[in-house]
Amino acid sequence: MLGIGTGIVHWAKALMPDHEVSEERHAIRTEDDRQAAVRIVEDIVEETGIKRRPLIRNTLLGAVALAPLPALAVFGDLGPRPDNTLAHTMWAPQDGKLKRLTRDPDGTPIKASDVTIGSAFHVIPEGLNELQEGKLNAKAKAVVLLMRLNPDDLTISKGRETWSYNGIVAYSKICTHVGCPVALYEQQTHHLLCPCHQSTFDLTKECKVIFGPASRPLPQLPIAVDAEGYLVATSDFKEPVGPSYWERDEHERLINS
Ligand code: FES
Repeated sequence: MLGIGTGIVHWAKALMPDHEVSEERHAIRTEDDRQAAVRIVEDIVEETGIKRRPLIRNTLLGAVALAPLPALAVFGDLGPRPDNTLAHTMWAPQDGKLKRLTRDPDGTPIKASDVTIGSAFHVIPEGLNELQEGKLNAKAKAVVLLMRLNPDDLTISKGRETWSYNGIVAYSKICTHVGCPVALYEQQTHHLLCPCHQSTFDLTKECKVIFGPASRPLPQLPIAVDAEGYLVATSDFKEPVGPSYWERDEHERLINS
């Protein structure tokens, strides 16, 4: 090792030139160069004799034309296009009936009076447990955190005045960074924390990101109370849940369509 080190130091100090050298080059792409290149290509074509062998030429062209076909089979195997399925969740009212907020996992409907200040509920939409197919996917998009704060602590922006009920607010549980479940609620600071990369959302400011890599707030679920005192979602989320991605604008268009 000493020998190698000594050699490297000697090489750097004594053998490596320490002055800059620039090599003058003639302009490439003169007309002569172009013609020389064309001649080379023509010579190659001539030498291969492909012009005189139409069978070889045509089978070669056919092979090149068919080469993309296997790609079609590969991409076809990726499954159906998601279309607008990512833009909607189970919270959308069905036949005009608003979905109740129910406890995860047993599906018990939640009354507004059950939600005391400082409490937090993990919530799924009514009917999710009865789904025969796609239950996991539906849950992954629709799962929500429900909390109650002192209404005076909430900052409510224009257009969201009717999205909460007496300080009870519901937000998507899916982190807008890369989609981990936001599972930690700090009662004292009213912060929601994502355990994956520590994104922190401020519940008092409509879940604005105050720390970490997430780039947008958690989507809020508009809620109200029905005639029997149960919490219901008055509509689906107004923006896509989960990680941000390049087609987000398109999905916002689908949500509003
Ligand atoms: S997934 Fe939540 S911070 Fe990364």
